[in-house]
Amino acid sequence: MTNSLRFLRDPDYKFGLGLAALGRPGYINLGHGEDIDDRSVEGMRENAHQVLDAAWKAGIRYFDAARSYGRAEEFLGSWLTERGIDPESVDIGSKWGYTYTANWQVQAEHHEIKEHSLDVLNRQWGETHHNLRGQLDLYQIHSATLESGVLENMAVLARLAELKSEGIAIGLTVSGANQAEVIERAIPIEVDGSRLFDSVQATWNLLEQSAGGTLKAAHESGMAVIVKEALANGRLTPGNANNPDFVRQYHLLQEEAMRLNTTVDALALAAARRQSWADMVLSGAANTNHLASNIRARHVMFDDEAAVALSSLVEPPESYWQTRSDLEWN
Ligand SMILES: NC(=O)c1ccc[n+]([C@@H]2O[C@H](COP(=O)([O-])OP(=O)(O)OC[C@H]3O[C@@H](n4cnc5c(N)ncnc54)[C@H](OP(=O)(O)O)[C@@H]3O)[C@@H](O)[C@H]2O)c1
Repeated sequence: MTNSLRFLRDPDYKFGLGLAALGRPGYINLGHGEDIDDRSVEGMRENAHQVLDAAWKAGIRYFDAARSYGRAEEFLGSWLTERGIDPESVDIGSKWGYTYTANWQVQAEHHEIKEHSLDVLNRQWGETHHNLRGQLDLYQIHSATLESGVLENMAVLARLAELKSEGIAIGLTVSGANQAEVIERAIPIEVDGSRLFDSVQATWNLLEQSAGGTLKAAHESGMAVIVKEALANGRLTPGNANNPDFVRQYHLLQEEAMRLNTTVDALALAAARRQSWADMVLSGAANTNHLASNIRARHVMFDDEAAVALSSLVEPPESYWQTRSDLEWN
């Protein structure tokens, strides 16, 4: 049995919602500390359900969680049940490989611990299955790297193939300056003569485009391509308007956003949606205001003039990823 990832592959649904900012009180995105008033578990569940309701109403049909996003899977699972969402009318993705360890604190010695072993896969698969009440469509290796050896771990790959044979699509997500290399390694992987990976989730935005060519190859090979961090963790939003190191860049973004009658964040998301190989672009909205602004991207006529004007925003991958790793949990 295979999972068709109907909404992920349908060009009419090129917009999804990621829950990284919705499931836990602390995150690295620029203004996370001011996004949500009530950071109790109940307050965050309520906020997550409001954003999910708004996303559903706006026609979003792909939701992206992870074991390490605090209670994101749990909030998504309770929302699916309480709203009586038919599993056939939505695609649900989650990820395994990082364990959430911040204990609902904004500051913690370790926010998440990474381990791509068979033991962690089996434990987290049980947790995910429980939280999402069997509604999962796509299970992704969270931030696969060459160093972790996960793409050569035959026990893990065989277990993923087993899940695939039970109807769960299998994906991987990648981060960092060598995203392209990891994707290239993953594309041809087979287990018992069948291709393993149905999807890849990677970072592509106006500042970091180094994986573009490889994502095109992944798409052409039949994998569904999901774009994450299209707003560079908040750097391509009004939340970064007063950053003294981003004055020239922000001015350019604002000028193009004004010309195309949209917001800076919608402009940046539209740039990602315009890529022919991008099957799905994630909004990482932390509240309903963000989402309302983000989904304006669907109506932006991102043209060649915008592409040329904004091409000077691209940063060398090493410096982009250094800036990202310097972002503080807040
Ligand atoms: N390794 C992985 O697998 C991985 C890694 C990262 C993300 N993801 C997935 O990708 C999704 C999206 O990623 P992301 O949340 O990091 O990326 P993003 O889209 O680059 O950034 C989203 C953030 O931008 C800010 N923002 C958005 N709209 C705004 C507005 N109108 N005004 C002001 N600020 C605004 C918010 O953060 P602030 O207000 O806090 O600035 C929001 O949380 C995640 O939810 C997750 O599902 C996966």
